[in-house]
Amino acid sequence: MSQEKVVETFDRWADAGEDARMEEGHGDVVRQVIEALDIAAGERILDLGCGNGWATRMLAQTNAGVQAIGVDASPKMIARADELHSFTIRARYDWGSFENLEFKDAEFDRIFSMEALYYATDLEKALSEACRVLKPGGNAHILIDYYEESSTTETWDASIGLDLHRKNEAGWRAAFEAAGFNDVATKRVIDSRAPAPDAHADKHALHAAGTLHIHAKKG
Ligand SMILES: C[S@@+](CC[C@H](N)C(=O)[O-])C[C@H]1O[C@@H](n2cnc3c(N)ncnc32)[C@H](O)[C@@H]1O
Repeated sequence: MSQEKVVETFDRWADAGEDARMEEGHGDVVRQVIEALDIAAGERILDLGCGNGWATRMLAQTNAGVQAIGVDASPKMIARADELHSFTIRARYDWGSFENLEFKDAEFDRIFSMEALYYATDLEKALSEACRVLKPGGNAHILIDYYEESSTTETWDASIGLDLHRKNEAGWRAAFEAAGFNDVATKRVIDSRAPAPDAHADKHALHAAGTLHIHAKKG
């Protein structure tokens, strides 16, 4: 997939204020996952596809001395993250791509990502870069709503106008294993806010399928 098209799309989303809509839509699931992570003081965490940086800031505030760095290919998302930044929070936002992370080997204790990895231009490269920058024993927590078992998402590529990586749960686990991760496991996280009873059936199905949480370890 062309990175230019992805950047164009997300720059447009940032201009249209879609970053705030994503924060609202993804907030509950991300909060549930981050609260369960038990992040230790001083951890260094990388947030892949940080958008306006809301989850990066949430990660940075989990414990004393935690430092969180968001990476995003959309300059306008990075500009939004900078605007929303508070200097009392140990976070920063770098413009860059999953496929060429500008970090040394083994720099991070943890990798986090919400609704971003299936947009990768080169998924294999993105996963091997994620594994490279993790410390041995480090953890990756990748969250995605777009996967085969969540059947109502199957039209998202056409509606967004991008080629997206579509896999089932087993396919995602295999992709992480092939990139060098161990102990790869998946589970579903359900948003605690149910859609209104009269909401469209697709909304109910999306909610019931939940967000796929891929947990993988390095070494
Ligand atoms: C659906 S948004 C999610 C943003 C944020 N995680 C959230 O939940 O609000 C996906 C983000 O991933 C970024 N992205 C997509 N492909 C990328 C790539 N190859 N490298 C870096 N960022 C990428 C996009 O620019 C976009 O901001």
